[in-house]
Amino acid sequence: MNICKPALSDKFLLDEIIKLKNKYDCKIFIETGTHVGGSSKIASNFFDRVITCENYQPFFEMSKENLSSIPNVELHNKSSIGLLEEIFPLKERVILFLDAHGADDFPLLGELKLCKLNEIKPIIIIHDFYVPDSMVMQNSHTMYIKLVITI
Ligand SMILES: C[S@@+](CC[C@H](N)C(=O)[O-])C[C@H]1O[C@@H](n2cnc3c(N)ncnc32)[C@H](O)[C@@H]1O
Repeated sequence: MNICKPALSDKFLLDEIIKLKNKYDCKIFIETGTHVGGSSKIASNFFDRVITCENYQPFFEMSKENLSSIPNVELHNKSSIGLLEEIFPLKERVILFLDAHGADDFPLLGELKLCKLNEIKPIIIIHDFYVPDSMVMQNSHTMYIKLVITI
């Protein structure tokens, strides 16, 4: 099982997220794709609420263990689409950190469509939008470019 470094261990990214949080007064951080909970844990230090979802059972179980002692993280064992359908529309402005993807699962288009459908205006951060050294992500980049133009 390949365990990746948490996205938010990137200090540049974390600093940008904190700047956006302060600028737009966001108290809620929503992450799609928990993996093993590393970024949720980091985000829990800065946000009142962290809502995150993981649909791959082994990673969900690891996240559950890693996040069990953190009261402001709400972990869901579901797909990103399932989570967003459940929590949208939102009254508050939130940071939406879109990082759910697998070898053959790229729910980004559906996630963005749900934002549009619900007429919500979150701060949207798409992680791994362009990963030039990954063949899988290069293919998704081509797809992402098309879909962002579509939306
Ligand atoms: C790049 S990792 C996320 C890393 C995590 N955000 C972090 O920074 O530690 C992507 C995760 O998304 C999960 N995933 C893939 N498709 C998903 C979907 N449709 N809904 C929810 N999670 C998904 C994968 O199992 C994987 O754990």
